[in-house]
Amino acid sequence: MNSGAKERVLSGIQPTHESFHLGNYLGAIKQWVDLQNSNDAFYCVVDLHALTVETKPEDFRRRTLSSVAQLIALGLNPEKCTLFIQSHVPAHNQLAWVLECLTGFGEASRMTQFKDKSQKAGSDRTVVGLFTYPILQAADILLYQANKVPVGEDQRQHIELTRDLGQRFNSKFGETFTIPEGYILKAGAKINDLQDPTAKMSKSSASASGVIELMDSPEINTKKIKSAVTDTGRDVIFDEKEKPGVSNLLTIYSALTGKTIAQSQEDFTGKGYGDFKGAVAEVVVDYLNPVREKANELLEDETHLKKLLSIGAEKAEAVASKTLSDTYKALGMISRA
Ligand code: TRP
Repeated sequence: MNSGAKERVLSGIQPTHESFHLGNYLGAIKQWVDLQNSNDAFYCVVDLHALTVETKPEDFRRRTLSSVAQLIALGLNPEKCTLFIQSHVPAHNQLAWVLECLTGFGEASRMTQFKDKSQKAGSDRTVVGLFTYPILQAADILLYQANKVPVGEDQRQHIELTRDLGQRFNSKFGETFTIPEGYILKAGAKINDLQDPTAKMSKSSASASGVIELMDSPEINTKKIKSAVTDTGRDVIFDEKEKPGVSNLLTIYSALTGKTIAQSQEDFTGKGYGDFKGAVAEVVVDYLNPVREKANELLEDETHLKKLLSIGAEKAEAVASKTLSDTYKALGMISRA
């Protein structure tokens, strides 16, 4: 159990793309940055989870390091939080096996993300790792005795499974795991696609032009914002139903400037969509420029980056191996002499 003075936070993100997008940042990573200040926070780049997506080794390698660099550039401070790569701590796989032996086949089959993905791909092209994915995620969380797990709404069911498995283990084998709470991020930070503003900004979006990538050049991002879909009418008004496009841009503007939606809307009274989009583009580019530069700078010195990761892995391992050995002991497994 976590008996430290601070609350333990854990979250993970998959290194499946060259760049995180603005929705990842405003929807999740920004909260990670805030939470590192007053919590004992563990953040991992979940490369094992990403193996469920087929990727060329050289792309996978680059994306993993780039994800770490972007997280640091966005404000995760390795001196304040524990930042590490999941596969550096083998206890994740080890605990996952134990939890797999406590999970019903039907229970795992009911995970909606699995159902969606496997239905799309067909069962012969669905890997077993996708089926056990949520159980590995449960292991990520339970290993660190996390109290809070900051995630998006789409992860709610996986957190429920984690709680169920933790409770099941505790009641069968004695108190071993802290039962975590999902810290589901508020709707305010939900960023939508620029071309389809009723859908979430997502890596799997139909068109790349609706997604602001953090590592893209200022020119590309300016262009994307200037060609964002806006709505009929001329006024810059926040109205998610009638004006989803304008509202999405106002949400982005407000999140990056720290102004409220009302203040943001006021900035554009009497102005047209053209001026409005220009201003949003400027705010986005000014915000992302230093982030991209910092990430690229970190990527140039791989030795240093790997050093930071090895410090993170060591801190993570200390906590994880204690939980794993408590787990084995509770199960009656014989420790090696
Ligand atoms: N499944 C999560 C996602 O796609 C990523 C993840 C893996 C995660 N392990 C985790 C999130 C542990 C929170 C905690 O977003």
